[in-house]
Amino acid sequence: MILHNMNFDVNNIIIRQLTIHDVASLLTLEKKAWPLDVQASEEILYDRISTFKEGAFGAFLDDLMIGAATSQIIRYHDNEMLRSWESLTKRGWISKTHDSGGNCIHFVSVGIHPQYRNYSIAKQLNEARLQLAKNLNLDYALTDTRLPGLKQFLSEDSSRDASTYIEKIIEGKIIEPVVSMYLHLGFHPLGLIFNCMNSDIESLSFGLAMLKNIG
Ligand SMILES: CC(C)(COP(=O)(O)OP(=O)(O)OC[C@H]1O[C@@H](n2cnc3c(N)ncnc32)[C@H](O)[C@@H]1OP(=O)(O)O)[C@@H](O)C(=O)NCCC(=O)NCCS
Repeated sequence: MILHNMNFDVNNIIIRQLTIHDVASLLTLEKKAWPLDVQASEEILYDRISTFKEGAFGAFLDDLMIGAATSQIIRYHDNEMLRSWESLTKRGWISKTHDSGGNCIHFVSVGIHPQYRNYSIAKQLNEARLQLAKNLNLDYALTDTRLPGLKQFLSEDSSRDASTYIEKIIEGKIIEPVVSMYLHLGFHPLGLIFNCMNSDIESLSFGLAMLKNIG
């Protein structure tokens, strides 16, 4: 992969919806952006785009894909039990779970090439997904985030638990990319989910369900 000079101009980044012709680039990005244990296969990426391409957005610098996000629509009820990412997506295969008649956009994935992080690219992709949800008159946006700093946090002190980790992020005492990103977008935490994504070693399989009311 050709890497660009880091003095790139963020104004040259283009955000657009993806098509099945983007699957090869998406796979290349997937291998750069995600730890090995949580990477999706080419077949799963194809499944996501062919199922709901309107909810799949890419960030491009010239022709290079440097970030991408995928989504599905689900039915969400206020008082429903928290559900894991694995159950909401049937382990990533959204053709089995996407419900075009639903009321909630579910954020399936967002990943940015490591060399292009902290330039608000994920923010732009998330805003594109929220705008789509608005255009579709959906009521909610739901995400069940990874907690990539959790394993390290717990290993430093045996009296700590996952709830303490979330509290410290909310208090701004821990610098953390994923939950912070959704808090900044107006999502609020619903609760911790164990076995959210079983293969996610950094997060010890925990996730945090977060919701935003649209509109
Ligand atoms: C999480 C991830 C998508 C963030 O991408 P990014 O483009 O660097 O994020 P942005 O620059 O758009 O930042 C979005 C918000 O999160 C916050 N944020 C991002 N990285 C942060 C960090 N390392 N520490 C603290 N806050 C951070 C920023 O403050 C920003 O909020 P603001 O713009 O309102 O100030 C990226 O780190 C990534 O690809 N991680 C690996 C894949 C992954 O775990 N995805 C999340 C799945 S749930």
